[in-house]
Amino acid sequence: MVEILREKNLYHLRNDHISYVIGIMPDQQTAHIYLGRRLNRINADPVLRHHGSGDTKNFTVQNCGLDRLPQEYPAFGLGDQREGALSVENADGTVAVDLRFESAEITEGKPSLQGLPATFGDNCRTLRIACADPLTNVRVELLYTVFEDCDVIARSARIINNGASRIRLNKAMSVSMDLPDDKWDLITLNGAWARERTAYRRPLMPGIQGVSTQCGASGLQQSPFIALARPRTDEQAGETIGMALVYSGNFAAQASVYQYHAPRVMLGINGADFSWLLEPGEAFQTPEAVIVYTNQGLGDMSRQFHSLWEKHLLPQRWVHRHRPVLLNSWEAAYFAFDEEKLLGIAKSAAEAGVELFVMDDGWFGRRDDDTTSLGDWTVDRKKLPSGLAHLADGVRALGLQFGIWMEPEMISPDSDLYRQHPDWAIHIAGRTPITGRNQLVLDLSREDVQQFMYQAVADTLKESGASYLKWDMNRNFSNIGSAALPAERQKELPHRYILGLYAVMDRLVRDFPDVLFEGCASGGGRFDPGMLYYVPQFWCSDNTDALCRCQIQYGTSYFLPASTMGSHLSAVPNHQTGRVTPIETRFAVALGGCFGYELDPRALTEAEREAMKTQVRYAIRTETTRLGGRFYRLLSPFEGNATAWIAVSKDKHSAVFTYVRAEALANEPSALVKLQGLDPDLRYQAEETGEIFGGDELMYSGLLCAVRQGDASSLLLTLKAVD
Ligand code: GLA
Repeated sequence: MVEILREKNLYHLRNDHISYVIGIMPDQQTAHIYLGRRLNRINADPVLRHHGSGDTKNFTVQNCGLDRLPQEYPAFGLGDQREGALSVENADGTVAVDLRFESAEITEGKPSLQGLPATFGDNCRTLRIACADPLTNVRVELLYTVFEDCDVIARSARIINNGASRIRLNKAMSVSMDLPDDKWDLITLNGAWARERTAYRRPLMPGIQGVSTQCGASGLQQSPFIALARPRTDEQAGETIGMALVYSGNFAAQASVYQYHAPRVMLGINGADFSWLLEPGEAFQTPEAVIVYTNQGLGDMSRQFHSLWEKHLLPQRWVHRHRPVLLNSWEAAYFAFDEEKLLGIAKSAAEAGVELFVMDDGWFGRRDDDTTSLGDWTVDRKKLPSGLAHLADGVRALGLQFGIWMEPEMISPDSDLYRQHPDWAIHIAGRTPITGRNQLVLDLSREDVQQFMYQAVADTLKESGASYLKWDMNRNFSNIGSAALPAERQKELPHRYILGLYAVMDRLVRDFPDVLFEGCASGGGRFDPGMLYYVPQFWCSDNTDALCRCQIQYGTSYFLPASTMGSHLSAVPNHQTGRVTPIETRFAVALGGCFGYELDPRALTEAEREAMKTQVRYAIRTETTRLGGRFYRLLSPFEGNATAWIAVSKDKHSAVFTYVRAEALANEPSALVKLQGLDPDLRYQAEETGEIFGGDELMYSGLLCAVRQGDASSLLLTLKAVD
């Protein structure tokens, strides 16, 4: 899987499908030689992979030659005029760093990254390339892991100060690659609250393009993911490079096209307003970035990501475990409830077969609205006079599991916690606190605050016996300062915050292994691979409108699997859009993730409550196929009036197909949808209609999708292989 060609100065990582090649230049700089389909052999002279023309003898560091060389981990200041991946401020205030190759080492498996989530596994091999600056002794270790069972290279960098003086890192990306040509489209996922992850695609242009955030989380407006796709690449064919960062804080992902039409692609912690002091002997570990390569289109790129996370990142005890069908109280009751009301909702849910009842926001302190009490995690006796355990027992007596909502990272200015510890909030002394949703963010760079947060969550879990915790986070950072950090380290706060968060989550998931944690951040505002190392699922969006959800879930599927998307059927008119959609469509769309309800079942009609029983049984029966199968996007809601996708079980014996037509048209043209992922040699029966089709027929000829009149009509088909 890793081959060293010493006489050529080449390092070749490969599996059955892909190759990644690194070269060492004559003056010991590391060069990016190749990423693409598997090569049996590589013979290239690294120096001949330069960009632009000219005499290669001149392409030396001393002659500003680095500007023409495809590099692996470039630093600004050595003649390369492009933006560097690493910026080090030396003891003398200068920013140059000259990284020369020192050694390379191959190990079986994959080392963990200190304090950070990262992929893991045995069926992989890791190459560690060490480079150092001979003048300052700054050392950089580049880690590359190639997986046997996924077409992925994982990369990260560790920067070590082996010098005698303190240095400051101003930028340390996780990955950088200089690709040979710019005939690519760039795909990013952008959005907003309730409109997360719309896929945008445009050709690469000269200059810098990409996504980045400084909001403290990966955020609602962008995801730590980019893809490059050849202009003709579609879902089923074409070269694609997908990249994602296993990180939940400020990040930048960009592709910059320079003078020789050679893009430099970088991904890592956002260097804007970031810095990190390294004392002699100290090291800084970047988060991990993963690179998927495929020549089989965007669909395969997504399935490679899905399978990587499932096998090598997500909490393994949860990946294939049943996710209980839940009912969450938020849209059913908001802040207005008491024990009787909650038990009434829970009873009705239990009658429909729901398995887990989740009490959302509003149960603690004096939390009758969002202006107060975050941080005071003691039950509100006005609403729940007999306490948390009493309510939880009451829910369990109905045959349901009990789940609870918390927003542990936050503090309301109107809280006992804030009155006791105003310094625990992120703030800048002398400046008026800037609230968001009336709240401040706890300073998780502090160990005392981490300990408080751990204890608050642990005590709540113990007191209630909850088997599920919805972990929310509802605001962006502002006035970014810590009372516990010296002036020279204030720019470390956003990353220290994320490290603090990861440390607490790590402890909690270890101490409560049977609790199902669901992440949430105003919906999908921190729905990223970093969080998914700890929580197996995330509330995909606060928008539960079925048509909006088609887009949000479709966009999310570019890099995250259905098994990670919390997805609930809610009431109509929808609370976010006011739209009325048929219950069948709300059901079909919510089945695209971890299924649940976000409504008060007592407000449904008798017929709808009956339908709920069938829905719950269906959701449970098809779970392995829907969440454990392979996912194929068939029709894009970003390109037309209809959306379609199919989840096919790994053995191809069953599938769940979903088609949603948004706006009704008079005299509508027929919709023939070509399915994917089935076995062409098998015959499939549609459970709903009894019809039998060949797998080849469904894939090559297509399925005619006739839906009822009216907006937001849908078709849900369950396919089973028959003899
Ligand atoms: C956020 C979440 C919602 C809900 C509310 C409660 O907006 O995304 O699902 O939990 O907080 O305040």
